[in-house]
Amino acid sequence: MSGVILLAGGTGMVGRNVRDLAAQRDIDVAAPARTEMDLLDPDSIAAAIARIKPDIIVHAAGRVGGIAANMDDPLHFLTDNFDMGRNLMMAAHAAGVPRLINLGSSCMYPRDMERPLTEDDVLGGPLEPTNEAYAIAKSAVARLGQYLSAEHADRDYKTLIPCNLYGRYDAYDPGRSHVAAAAIAKVHAAVQSGAREVEIWGSGTARREFLYAGDLADAILRAVNHFDTLPPLTNIGVGTDVTINDYYRAAAEVIGFDGRFVHDLDRPVGMKRKLMDVGRATAWGWTAKTALKDGIAQAHAWYRAEIAEAA
Ligand SMILES: NC(=O)c1ccc[n+]([C@@H]2O[C@H](COP(=O)([O-])OP(=O)(O)OC[C@H]3O[C@@H](n4cnc5c(N)ncnc54)[C@H](OP(=O)(O)O)[C@@H]3O)[C@@H](O)[C@H]2O)c1
Repeated sequence: MSGVILLAGGTGMVGRNVRDLAAQRDIDVAAPARTEMDLLDPDSIAAAIARIKPDIIVHAAGRVGGIAANMDDPLHFLTDNFDMGRNLMMAAHAAGVPRLINLGSSCMYPRDMERPLTEDDVLGGPLEPTNEAYAIAKSAVARLGQYLSAEHADRDYKTLIPCNLYGRYDAYDPGRSHVAAAAIAKVHAAVQSGAREVEIWGSGTARREFLYAGDLADAILRAVNHFDTLPPLTNIGVGTDVTINDYYRAAAEVIGFDGRFVHDLDRPVGMKRKLMDVGRATAWGWTAKTALKDGIAQAHAWYRAEIAEAA
Protein backbone atom coordinates (compact mmCIF):
# COMPACT_ATOMS: atom_id res chain seq x y z
CA MET A 1 0.00 0.00 0.00
CA SER A 2 1.19 3.46 -0.79
CA GLY A 3 0.50 5.62 2.27
CA VAL A 4 -1.88 8.57 2.38
CA ILE A 5 -3.91 9.08 -0.81
CA LEU A 6 -5.28 12.53 -1.67
CA LEU A 7 -8.00 12.49 -4.33
CA ALA A 8 -8.85 15.75 -6.14
CA GLY A 9 -12.26 15.68 -7.81
CA GLY A 10 -13.77 13.26 -5.32
CA THR A 11 -17.29 14.61 -5.91
CA GLY A 12 -17.23 13.93 -9.68
CA MET A 13 -18.13 10.80 -11.61
CA VAL A 14 -14.62 9.36 -11.61
CA GLY A 15 -13.93 10.50 -8.05
CA ARG A 16 -17.11 8.98 -6.61
CA ASN A 17 -16.44 5.68 -8.35
CA VAL A 18 -12.90 5.69 -6.93
CA ARG A 19 -14.23 6.43 -3.44
CA ASP A 20 -16.86 3.67 -3.65
CA LEU A 21 -14.34 1.08 -4.79
CA ALA A 22 -11.76 2.21 -2.24
CA ALA A 23 -14.38 1.89 0.51
CA GLN A 24 -15.24 -1.65 -0.67
CA ARG A 25 -11.55 -2.52 -0.46
CA ASP A 26 -10.97 -0.80 2.90
CA ILE A 27 -8.61 1.75 1.38
CA ASP A 28 -8.65 5.20 3.01
CA VAL A 29 -8.82 8.12 0.60
CA ALA A 30 -8.78 11.80 1.62
CA ALA A 31 -11.08 13.58 -0.82
CA PRO A 32 -11.40 17.26 0.06
CA ALA A 33 -14.36 18.98 -1.58
CA ARG A 34 -13.85 22.06 -3.74
CA THR A 35 -14.72 24.23 -0.71
CA GLU A 36 -11.74 22.71 1.13
CA MET A 37 -9.34 22.57 -1.83
CA ASP A 38 -10.13 24.88 -4.73
CA LEU A 39 -7.80 23.91 -7.55
CA LEU A 40 -8.06 27.39 -9.03
CA ASP A 41 -6.57 28.77 -5.79
CA PRO A 42 -2.93 27.73 -5.18
CA ASP A 43 -3.06 28.77 -1.49
CA SER A 44 -6.04 26.53 -0.86
CA ILE A 45 -4.21 23.57 -2.46
CA ALA A 46 -1.05 24.21 -0.43
CA ALA A 47 -3.11 24.31 2.77
CA ALA A 48 -4.91 21.05 1.93
CA ILE A 49 -1.63 19.28 1.10
CA ALA A 50 -0.04 20.58 4.32
CA ARG A 51 -3.02 19.26 6.30
CA ILE A 52 -3.42 15.86 4.58
CA LYS A 53 0.31 15.15 3.98
CA PRO A 54 -0.29 12.81 1.03
CA ASP A 55 2.19 10.25 -0.22
CA ILE A 56 0.35 10.19 -3.53
CA ILE A 57 -2.17 12.48 -5.24
CA VAL A 58 -4.82 11.42 -7.76
CA HIS A 59 -5.98 14.31 -9.95
CA ALA A 60 -9.52 13.48 -11.07
CA ALA A 61 -10.90 17.03 -11.11
CA GLY A 62 -11.63 19.14 -14.13
CA ARG A 63 -14.08 21.10 -16.19
CA VAL A 64 -15.70 18.25 -18.12
CA GLY A 65 -18.54 18.21 -20.62
CA GLY A 66 -19.86 16.93 -23.91
CA ILE A 67 -19.47 18.47 -27.36
CA ALA A 68 -22.01 21.24 -26.75
CA ALA A 69 -20.40 22.40 -23.50
CA ASN A 70 -16.92 22.29 -25.04
CA MET A 71 -17.99 24.29 -28.09
CA ASP A 72 -19.85 26.87 -25.99
CA ASP A 73 -16.94 27.80 -23.76
CA PRO A 74 -13.50 26.79 -25.10
CA LEU A 75 -11.88 29.60 -23.12
CA HIS A 76 -12.72 28.04 -19.77
CA PHE A 77 -12.20 24.47 -20.94
CA LEU A 78 -8.63 25.51 -21.66
CA THR A 79 -7.88 27.85 -18.75
CA ASP A 80 -9.67 25.91 -16.00
CA ASN A 81 -8.27 22.53 -16.95
CA PHE A 82 -4.77 23.85 -17.43
CA ASP A 83 -4.84 25.96 -14.26
CA MET A 84 -6.22 23.12 -12.12
CA GLY A 85 -3.58 20.67 -13.32
CA ARG A 86 -0.75 23.15 -13.14
CA ASN A 87 -1.71 24.45 -9.70
CA LEU A 88 -2.08 20.96 -8.27
CA MET A 89 1.15 19.60 -9.76
CA MET A 90 3.22 22.63 -8.78
CA ALA A 91 1.78 22.63 -5.24
CA ALA A 92 2.51 18.89 -4.96
CA HIS A 93 6.05 19.51 -6.19
CA ALA A 94 6.59 22.45 -3.81
CA ALA A 95 5.38 20.34 -0.88
CA GLY A 96 7.60 17.39 -1.80
CA VAL A 97 4.83 14.96 -2.75
CA PRO A 98 6.72 12.23 -4.62
CA ARG A 99 3.94 10.63 -6.68
CA LEU A 100 0.94 11.87 -8.59
CA ILE A 101 -1.53 10.24 -10.98
CA ASN A 102 -3.06 12.69 -13.45
CA LEU A 103 -6.04 11.92 -15.69
CA GLY A 104 -5.82 12.85 -19.34
CA SER A 105 -8.44 11.97 -21.94
CA SER A 106 -8.58 10.29 -25.34
CA CYS A 107 -9.71 13.73 -26.59
CA MET A 108 -5.99 14.59 -26.44
CA TYR A 109 -5.33 12.50 -29.52
CA PRO A 110 -5.13 13.88 -33.06
CA ARG A 111 -8.30 13.72 -35.10
CA ASP A 112 -9.00 11.38 -37.99
CA MET A 113 -6.52 8.66 -37.16
CA GLU A 114 -8.04 5.38 -38.23
CA ARG A 115 -5.58 3.08 -36.52
CA PRO A 116 -5.61 2.50 -32.73
CA LEU A 117 -3.93 5.41 -30.95
CA THR A 118 -0.77 4.71 -29.01
CA GLU A 119 0.58 6.93 -26.25
CA ASP A 120 3.26 8.18 -28.67
CA ASP A 121 0.52 9.79 -30.79
CA VAL A 122 -0.14 12.52 -28.19
CA LEU A 123 0.73 15.87 -29.85
CA GLY A 124 1.24 14.00 -33.11
CA GLY A 125 -1.22 15.89 -35.31
CA PRO A 126 -4.10 18.38 -35.59
CA LEU A 127 -6.75 18.19 -32.86
CA GLU A 128 -10.50 17.76 -33.22
CA PRO A 129 -11.85 21.36 -33.27
CA THR A 130 -14.90 20.59 -31.08
CA ASN A 131 -12.66 19.68 -28.12
CA GLU A 132 -9.43 21.46 -29.03
CA ALA A 133 -9.28 23.67 -25.91
CA TYR A 134 -9.80 20.76 -23.53
CA ALA A 135 -7.24 18.69 -25.43
CA ILE A 136 -4.60 21.42 -25.31
CA ALA A 137 -5.03 21.77 -21.53
CA LYS A 138 -4.96 18.01 -20.97
CA SER A 139 -1.84 17.57 -23.14
CA ALA A 140 -0.04 20.45 -21.43
CA VAL A 141 -0.72 19.08 -17.95
CA ALA A 142 0.41 15.59 -18.96
CA ARG A 143 3.63 17.09 -20.34
CA LEU A 144 4.10 19.18 -17.18
CA GLY A 145 4.07 15.96 -15.16
CA GLN A 146 6.63 14.41 -17.51
CA TYR A 147 8.91 17.49 -17.30
CA LEU A 148 8.75 17.62 -13.49
CA SER A 149 9.55 13.90 -13.34
CA ALA A 150 12.44 14.24 -15.78
CA GLU A 151 13.98 17.19 -13.95
CA HIS A 152 13.55 15.85 -10.40
CA ALA A 153 14.63 12.31 -9.54
CA ASP A 154 12.28 12.23 -6.53
CA ARG A 155 9.14 13.26 -8.45
CA ASP A 156 7.09 10.78 -10.47
CA TYR A 157 3.96 12.39 -11.92
CA LYS A 158 2.25 10.00 -14.33
CA THR A 159 -0.83 10.27 -16.56
CA LEU A 160 -3.57 7.77 -17.32
CA ILE A 161 -5.51 8.45 -20.53
CA PRO A 162 -9.09 7.16 -20.23
CA CYS A 163 -11.43 6.82 -23.21
CA ASN A 164 -15.13 7.86 -23.09
CA LEU A 165 -16.64 6.95 -19.75
CA TYR A 166 -20.15 6.02 -18.69
CA GLY A 167 -21.62 4.78 -15.46
CA ARG A 168 -22.91 5.70 -12.04
CA TYR A 169 -22.58 9.34 -10.98
CA ASP A 170 -22.35 10.57 -14.58
CA ALA A 171 -23.75 14.00 -15.54
CA TYR A 172 -27.10 13.19 -17.15
CA ASP A 173 -28.45 16.71 -17.71
CA PRO A 174 -28.47 17.66 -21.42
CA GLY A 175 -26.34 20.80 -20.89
CA ARG A 176 -23.35 18.79 -19.63
CA SER A 177 -23.80 15.18 -20.65
CA HIS A 178 -21.56 13.16 -22.91
CA VAL A 179 -23.11 10.89 -25.52
CA ALA A 180 -23.11 7.81 -23.25
CA ALA A 181 -25.17 9.42 -20.48
CA ALA A 182 -27.34 11.34 -22.95
CA ALA A 183 -28.29 8.09 -24.69
CA ILE A 184 -29.33 6.43 -21.43
CA ALA A 185 -31.39 9.46 -20.38
CA LYS A 186 -33.06 9.83 -23.80
CA VAL A 187 -33.93 6.14 -24.14
CA HIS A 188 -35.22 6.05 -20.56
CA ALA A 189 -37.40 9.11 -21.19
CA ALA A 190 -38.84 7.55 -24.35
CA VAL A 191 -39.76 4.35 -22.50
CA GLN A 192 -41.39 6.38 -19.72
CA SER A 193 -43.38 8.60 -22.05
CA GLY A 194 -44.22 5.93 -24.63
CA ALA A 195 -42.45 7.91 -27.37
CA ARG A 196 -41.70 5.83 -30.45
CA GLU A 197 -38.66 7.81 -31.59
CA VAL A 198 -35.32 8.76 -30.06
CA GLU A 199 -33.08 11.32 -31.73
CA ILE A 200 -29.37 10.70 -32.25
CA TRP A 201 -26.97 13.57 -33.03
CA GLY A 202 -25.43 13.00 -36.47
CA SER A 203 -25.51 9.81 -38.50
CA GLY A 204 -24.47 7.67 -35.52
CA THR A 205 -21.62 6.13 -37.51
CA ALA A 206 -18.84 7.80 -35.48
CA ARG A 207 -17.09 5.18 -33.37
CA ARG A 208 -16.35 5.42 -29.65
CA GLU A 209 -14.59 3.33 -27.05
CA PHE A 210 -16.76 3.26 -23.92
CA LEU A 211 -15.28 2.33 -20.54
CA TYR A 212 -17.41 1.70 -17.47
CA ALA A 213 -16.36 4.27 -14.84
CA GLY A 214 -16.11 1.53 -12.19
CA ASP A 215 -13.43 -0.09 -14.34
CA LEU A 216 -11.50 3.19 -14.49
CA ALA A 217 -11.70 3.35 -10.69
CA ASP A 218 -10.18 -0.14 -10.61
CA ALA A 219 -7.36 1.01 -12.91
CA ILE A 220 -6.71 4.08 -10.75
CA LEU A 221 -6.51 2.04 -7.55
CA ARG A 222 -4.21 -0.41 -9.31
CA ALA A 223 -2.07 2.54 -10.39
CA VAL A 224 -1.86 3.67 -6.76
CA ASN A 225 -0.91 0.18 -5.59
CA HIS A 226 1.45 -0.67 -8.45
CA PHE A 227 2.74 2.82 -9.09
CA ASP A 228 6.35 1.88 -9.67
CA THR A 229 5.58 -0.42 -12.60
CA LEU A 230 3.03 1.98 -14.17
CA PRO A 231 4.43 3.60 -17.34
CA PRO A 232 4.52 7.44 -17.35
CA LEU A 233 1.68 7.66 -19.90
CA THR A 234 -0.86 4.85 -20.22
CA ASN A 235 -4.09 4.47 -22.18
CA ILE A 236 -6.94 3.08 -20.09
CA GLY A 237 -9.63 1.73 -22.36
CA VAL A 238 -11.38 -1.44 -23.45
CA GLY A 239 -9.47 -1.89 -26.71
CA THR A 240 -12.58 -2.11 -28.91
CA ASP A 241 -15.04 0.50 -30.12
CA VAL A 242 -18.66 0.60 -31.28
CA THR A 243 -20.63 3.07 -33.37
CA ILE A 244 -22.87 5.55 -31.62
CA ASN A 245 -25.77 3.69 -33.26
CA ASP A 246 -24.52 0.41 -31.71
CA TYR A 247 -24.37 2.10 -28.31
CA TYR A 248 -27.94 3.41 -28.63
CA ARG A 249 -29.11 -0.06 -29.72
CA ALA A 250 -27.42 -1.60 -26.67
CA ALA A 251 -29.07 1.00 -24.41
CA ALA A 252 -32.44 0.31 -26.06
CA GLU A 253 -32.08 -3.41 -25.46
CA VAL A 254 -31.09 -2.95 -21.81
CA ILE A 255 -33.74 -0.32 -21.04
CA GLY A 256 -36.51 -1.90 -23.10
CA PHE A 257 -37.08 0.59 -25.93
CA ASP A 258 -38.40 -0.95 -29.16
CA GLY A 259 -39.11 2.23 -31.13
CA ARG A 260 -36.89 3.69 -33.83
CA PHE A 261 -33.94 6.06 -33.95
CA VAL A 262 -33.93 9.25 -36.02
CA HIS A 263 -30.85 11.27 -36.89
CA ASP A 264 -30.33 15.02 -36.64
CA LEU A 265 -27.64 15.50 -39.27
CA ASP A 266 -27.17 19.19 -38.40
CA ARG A 267 -25.67 18.37 -35.00
CA PRO A 268 -21.89 18.18 -34.39
CA VAL A 269 -20.53 14.67 -33.87
CA GLY A 270 -16.86 15.18 -33.00
CA MET A 271 -14.13 12.76 -34.03
CA LYS A 272 -14.98 9.95 -36.47
CA ARG A 273 -13.02 7.49 -34.39
CA LYS A 274 -10.69 7.52 -31.39
CA LEU A 275 -9.93 3.96 -30.46
CA MET A 276 -6.91 3.61 -28.21
CA ASP A 277 -4.29 0.89 -28.26
CA VAL A 278 -4.38 -0.71 -24.80
CA GLY A 279 -1.24 -2.82 -25.21
CA ARG A 280 0.70 -0.80 -22.64
CA ALA A 281 -1.99 -1.18 -19.94
CA THR A 282 -2.36 -4.89 -20.73
CA ALA A 283 1.40 -5.42 -20.41
CA TRP A 284 1.28 -3.54 -17.09
CA GLY A 285 -1.36 -6.04 -15.92
CA TRP A 286 -4.71 -4.26 -16.23
CA THR A 287 -7.69 -4.93 -18.49
CA ALA A 288 -11.28 -3.67 -18.38
CA LYS A 289 -13.76 -6.19 -16.96
CA THR A 290 -17.28 -4.84 -17.54
CA ALA A 291 -19.13 -5.78 -20.75
CA LEU A 292 -20.98 -2.89 -22.42
CA LYS A 293 -24.54 -4.05 -21.74
CA ASP A 294 -23.71 -4.95 -18.12
CA GLY A 295 -22.25 -1.49 -17.62
CA ILE A 296 -25.22 0.20 -19.25
CA ALA A 297 -27.56 -1.80 -17.00
CA GLN A 298 -25.69 -0.62 -13.90
CA ALA A 299 -25.53 2.97 -15.14
CA HIS A 300 -29.23 2.94 -15.99
CA ALA A 301 -30.20 1.46 -12.61
CA TRP A 302 -28.31 4.28 -10.91
CA TYR A 303 -29.80 6.93 -13.23
CA ARG A 304 -33.34 5.65 -12.68
CA ALA A 305 -33.04 5.55 -8.89
CA GLU A 306 -30.96 8.65 -8.27
CA ILE A 307 -32.00 11.06 -11.03
CA ALA A 308 -35.15 10.08 -12.91
CA GLU A 309 -37.24 8.82 -9.99
CA ALA A 310 -35.72 11.25 -7.48
CA ALA A 311 -36.81 14.23 -9.57
N1 LIG B 1 -16.21 11.73 -18.15
C1 LIG B 1 -15.50 11.21 -19.14
O1 LIG B 1 -16.04 10.61 -20.10
C2 LIG B 1 -14.00 11.30 -19.10
C3 LIG B 1 -13.27 10.67 -20.12
C4 LIG B 1 -11.88 10.77 -20.10
C5 LIG B 1 -11.25 11.46 -19.08
N2 LIG B 1 -11.98 12.06 -18.11
C6 LIG B 1 -11.24 12.82 -17.08
O2 LIG B 1 -11.55 12.31 -15.79
C7 LIG B 1 -11.49 13.38 -14.84
C8 LIG B 1 -12.79 13.41 -14.04
O3 LIG B 1 -13.89 13.54 -14.92
P1 LIG B 1 -15.38 13.34 -14.41
O4 LIG B 1 -16.14 12.80 -15.56
O5 LIG B 1 -15.39 12.66 -13.10
O6 LIG B 1 -15.82 14.87 -14.23
P2 LIG B 1 -16.99 15.47 -13.31
O7 LIG B 1 -17.98 14.41 -12.96
O8 LIG B 1 -17.47 16.69 -14.00
O9 LIG B 1 -16.23 15.88 -11.97
C9 LIG B 1 -15.34 16.94 -11.98
C10 LIG B 1 -14.75 17.08 -10.59
O10 LIG B 1 -13.83 18.16 -10.60
C11 LIG B 1 -14.15 19.01 -9.50
N3 LIG B 1 -13.75 20.39 -9.74
C12 LIG B 1 -14.10 21.19 -10.78
N4 LIG B 1 -13.56 22.42 -10.60
C13 LIG B 1 -12.85 22.37 -9.44
C14 LIG B 1 -12.08 23.31 -8.72
N5 LIG B 1 -11.90 24.57 -9.15
N6 LIG B 1 -11.50 22.92 -7.57
C15 LIG B 1 -11.68 21.67 -7.11
N7 LIG B 1 -12.40 20.72 -7.73
C16 LIG B 1 -12.98 21.08 -8.90
C17 LIG B 1 -15.65 18.87 -9.35
O11 LIG B 1 -16.04 19.36 -8.10
P3 LIG B 1 -17.54 19.92 -7.84
O12 LIG B 1 -18.35 18.71 -7.49
O13 LIG B 1 -17.37 20.88 -6.72
O14 LIG B 1 -17.99 20.57 -9.12
C18 LIG B 1 -15.79 17.38 -9.51
O15 LIG B 1 -15.42 16.72 -8.32
C19 LIG B 1 -11.24 14.67 -15.63
O16 LIG B 1 -9.86 14.92 -15.65
C20 LIG B 1 -11.66 14.27 -17.05
O17 LIG B 1 -10.98 15.01 -18.01
C21 LIG B 1 -13.34 12.00 -18.08
